[in-house]
Amino acid sequence: MPKFSFVDLIHPLVQKYAESFSSPEDELLREVNVYTAQHHPEFHMLSGHLQGKLLEMISQMIQPERILEIGTFTGYSALCLAKGLKPGGKLHTIELREKDAAIAKGFFNRSSFSGQIILHTGNALNILPELRETWDLVFVDADKVSYIEYFKLVLPQVRQNGFILADNIFFHGEVLASEVKGKNAKSIKEFNEFIRERRDIDKMIITLRDGLYLVRKL
Ligand SMILES: C[S@@+](CC[C@H](N)C(=O)[O-])C[C@H]1O[C@@H](n2cnc3c(N)ncnc32)[C@H](O)[C@@H]1O
Repeated sequence: MPKFSFVDLIHPLVQKYAESFSSPEDELLREVNVYTAQHHPEFHMLSGHLQGKLLEMISQMIQPERILEIGTFTGYSALCLAKGLKPGGKLHTIELREKDAAIAKGFFNRSSFSGQIILHTGNALNILPELRETWDLVFVDADKVSYIEYFKLVLPQVRQNGFILADNIFFHGEVLASEVKGKNAKSIKEFNEFIRERRDIDKMIITLRDGLYLVRKL
């Protein structure tokens, strides 16, 4: 099966059309985007304009008091999600790599959410059990092999009718193959099957970019 990129999954013309009819990124988000493109070899990991806007819109709809993000990278998605926080609300975001965390911190400090975003540096699997919060909204966007573990750790701390969003659930289209190869693609396939079988959640897949699983705790 041929390899797809995010852009191939969504027709490039559709992507362009959707971007041109959506509100543009604000100045800081644009800067994070451009900076990451110019300085980071893994630029493709950044949520980007349309997905960022979706995260912002979902957060604005929920108006969360507590948001958890697993996988900060350079801070783009955290800044989008923070836009929906209730006054006094907090967003906790976890990043494994110190270098990426430092870049994100620099952008958070320049935003209007500097007092509301709490950045944790380290392995989310170690940090999550220490966070004693009730989450209204969770965004899972870190290492794919741990998605099931993240879900199991986080769901008990999500309030009833709270939401979890998990990114990259098509894994560049690789989960569509008849024989799924590679550790990450296999992990995502297992995660998708695990979510599909659970009866204690409501769920749907958003076919934007590399696919997002949207889950509501019943
Ligand atoms: C896809 S990127 C996140 C992109 C970001 N959410 C955005 O949209 O701009 C995944 C990030 O998760 C981080 N990561 C990977 N494994 C992790 C772990 N075990 N704990 C915390 N962060 C991890 C990586 O270092 C990377 O920066």
